[in-house]
Amino acid sequence: MKIDFANLQLQYQKYKSGIDASIQTVLNKSNYIMGEEVKQLEAELSTFTSAKHAITCSNGTDALLLALMAMDIQPSDEIITTPFTFISTAETIASMKAKPVFVDIESDTFNIDANLIEAAITDKTKAIMPVSLFGQPADMNAIQAVAEKYHLKVIIDGAQSFGSTYNGKTDSNLGDISTTSFFPSKPLGCYGDGGAVFTNNNEYAEKIKMIRVHGQNKRYHYKYIGMGGRLDTIQAAILLAKLPHYKKELVERENVAKKYKDLIKKNLKIPVIKSNRTTSWGQYTLRINDRDEVQKKLNDKGIPTAIYYPVPLHLQACFKYLNYKENDLPVAEESSSCVLSLPMNAYLSDDNISYITKTLNRILK
Ligand SMILES: Cc1ncc(COP(=O)(O)O)c(C=O)c1O
Repeated sequence: MKIDFANLQLQYQKYKSGIDASIQTVLNKSNYIMGEEVKQLEAELSTFTSAKHAITCSNGTDALLLALMAMDIQPSDEIITTPFTFISTAETIASMKAKPVFVDIESDTFNIDANLIEAAITDKTKAIMPVSLFGQPADMNAIQAVAEKYHLKVIIDGAQSFGSTYNGKTDSNLGDISTTSFFPSKPLGCYGDGGAVFTNNNEYAEKIKMIRVHGQNKRYHYKYIGMGGRLDTIQAAILLAKLPHYKKELVERENVAKKYKDLIKKNLKIPVIKSNRTTSWGQYTLRINDRDEVQKKLNDKGIPTAIYYPVPLHLQACFKYLNYKENDLPVAEESSSCVLSLPMNAYLSDDNISYITKTLNRILK
């Protein structure tokens, strides 16, 4: 049996008529840049998340940059974040010439350990940037409490978690600014690059809309230094065709996770989702000893897996100048050595899941 990790082919076949019609509408109108589909999508994203403002943009990395630029982050500023994430989280902080300050993670959720944040705060700290890793929001109540105590801003990197909730609120509707990515393999993906920024703050929203278009407040008048950070109208049209199916897809992803839980060997460390949270199941990530060997054996049986992430950010060459060394953040480092993500998408059949879990259990025997 051949298993697909994200199965974008099958996804397109399922929604083909809606997606094709939506793209065709844009082609007929030739409104490729900031067409009305972009506005319509932003309205629908705002309704879906309950965030007051949803501002689409070029990708999840630029979404983070837009958030940092809107907050006017300066080179002397420090931002506390997690080392166990995709590079964009800390890359964007460094792109602003600010300093990423890494705090270790919880071993069960892989998210930033909120109990360790206070000790990392200095008089230069301006913001905390938690990531809703693999789809599950971090401990936002605890993070918000530290942020309020020290007058810090909170930016949530929700690239993997569109639609996930914490105490019943989507993580797009938490923090000062929240972001997401519509990269094709993300839980809600477009068919190219895309992203969005969410906020309930009117001033941030106005500024982000300007910065997204080169800081322009009036045609050829520029209030801020900005960027070319718009979402293409065609990508907005694709997302408009997919969004109505997304709630159902979240349920289907949850069902896949439930079946994995039931069928995977009982002594294996499967994902832990806290009772006050839901996850979009951006990834289904196990902790496995002899991870590399297990990955190779699964691959030989036609089961693709992924390692998110093999090296934590504090030990990456590009952050050498921050002077972290091995054992500084032991939970993140240990996690990097044993994580393995199984195929996760809404279209895995019972046969697929049975084959994946049986093969895995046999390898681990
Ligand atoms: C946690 C995290 N942040 C940011 C990004 C960046 O998103 P994009 O690839 O759309 O720029 C990603 C994408 O993989 C991500 O996983």
